[in-house]
Amino acid sequence: MDRIRIVGGERLNGIIPISGAKNAALPLMIASLLTEETLTLHNVPRLADVTLLSRILGNHGIDVTVVGKKAGQRKSDGQTFKLTAAQIVDTTAPYDMVARMRASFWVLAPLLARCGVAKVSLPGGCAIGTRPVDLHFDALKALGATIDLEGGYVLASAPKGLSGARVELAKVSVGATHNALMAAVLARGETLIANAAREPEVMDLANCLSEMGAKIEGIGTATLQVQGVDALHAAEHAVLPDRIETGTYAMAVAMTGGEVFLEGARFDLLEEALVLLRKAGVEIEETPTGLRVARNGGGLEPVTVETQPFPGFPTDLQAQLIALMCKACGTSTIRETIFENRFMHVQELARLGARIDLKGDTAFVTGVEGLTGAQVMATDLRASVSLVIAGLAAQGETLIGRVYHLDRGFERIEDKLRRCGAQIDRLSS
Ligand code: EPZ
Repeated sequence: MDRIRIVGGERLNGIIPISGAKNAALPLMIASLLTEETLTLHNVPRLADVTLLSRILGNHGIDVTVVGKKAGQRKSDGQTFKLTAAQIVDTTAPYDMVARMRASFWVLAPLLARCGVAKVSLPGGCAIGTRPVDLHFDALKALGATIDLEGGYVLASAPKGLSGARVELAKVSVGATHNALMAAVLARGETLIANAAREPEVMDLANCLSEMGAKIEGIGTATLQVQGVDALHAAEHAVLPDRIETGTYAMAVAMTGGEVFLEGARFDLLEEALVLLRKAGVEIEETPTGLRVARNGGGLEPVTVETQPFPGFPTDLQAQLIALMCKACGTSTIRETIFENRFMHVQELARLGARIDLKGDTAFVTGVEGLTGAQVMATDLRASVSLVIAGLAAQGETLIGRVYHLDRGFERIEDKLRRCGAQIDRLSS
């Protein structure tokens, strides 16, 4: 298994190109199930989850083509995928595939909407929490689907098609909003999705569906109104930049000091989190082509924050913020409100010398003089990148095991950081 080795203490200076967002690319790829015509996606990141989803979609009958390199294209430019679901040959998403990537559960709605039937393995729990799917079922049932559970599988059917209805999501859920939206676009009549997630990735999916011929109003708000259509058609869409990658690199620069231009990053996708970093003492300047992030001397101020659905502080940046606050002058209070078990990085950060007290859903992080390199283990995607951030500032060598977690969501992370002066490499075994 590969490991990442970091020798900490170098400041970061240079340019980091921000990739297309993993959490937008995945539902966009799944949306290709909704039409027999070709969906062309640009700016698709090179990630293990994207490769795995291509295989899962292939199993349903989708032809996935990665368009070859074009003249003038840079290594940092995203890929172009062409996805064609001319015929869906299999409406089953098997356990061994869904268990490896939760987002693949979202094939449920488009298969049901297009074929009237779907059999999808229950995703089960994962490292960060139990992660139920009851809201997905509530939404599909409201649209007229029958849902049964058998042998760990969800059997969904709507032989006469789905019908528009009011879908009231009891809790804000990104995945349930994706599923409700993908079901509603081909349902008969009008659907109103209330308490919809407003995450930029939901907006990206809604915009792409509109480009495919869907009729959606209220994009970017908590109320989505969908007028069902008979069929969707071909479209071309560019995946929006990854706000979590943006926030992660901004915090890496804040941790080490230096100045980095995050090329392609957008302030509006991350506003509250960036305002918080500014309050902590990080310089962030918005430009038309990206964000300039700098910290040159001066201690960081501690913060008090809780994770919230968009536009609040994202749970996907909580681990990175905890790592950063290990360098603050004082105690930060960071509360996790989205997932019940998303603190596994805490004990690993402690191995580097972090002082973190966990009380229920809240971490109290007291800044320390310095962190010291150690051997640590990645437990999930965002937890693993928090160890990278801490390792960049720690004295001596940090060795991170189980880096396959990182490869799921961060494109060429060693390369991007090395180009800015970090001493980081991958040890293959
Ligand atoms: C998406 O997961 C993201 N995944 C997660 O990113 C992200 O942390 C999360 O949204 C919150 O922003 C992808 O986009 C692939 P939710 P999702 O449904 O959709 C509860 C990463 O690191 N809930 O918005 O699965 C749930 O337990 C990943 O890239 C129910 O109770 O999250 C949680 O408490 C990790 N019943 C809350 O809602 C349901 O049916 C929000 O979860 C569904 C969710």
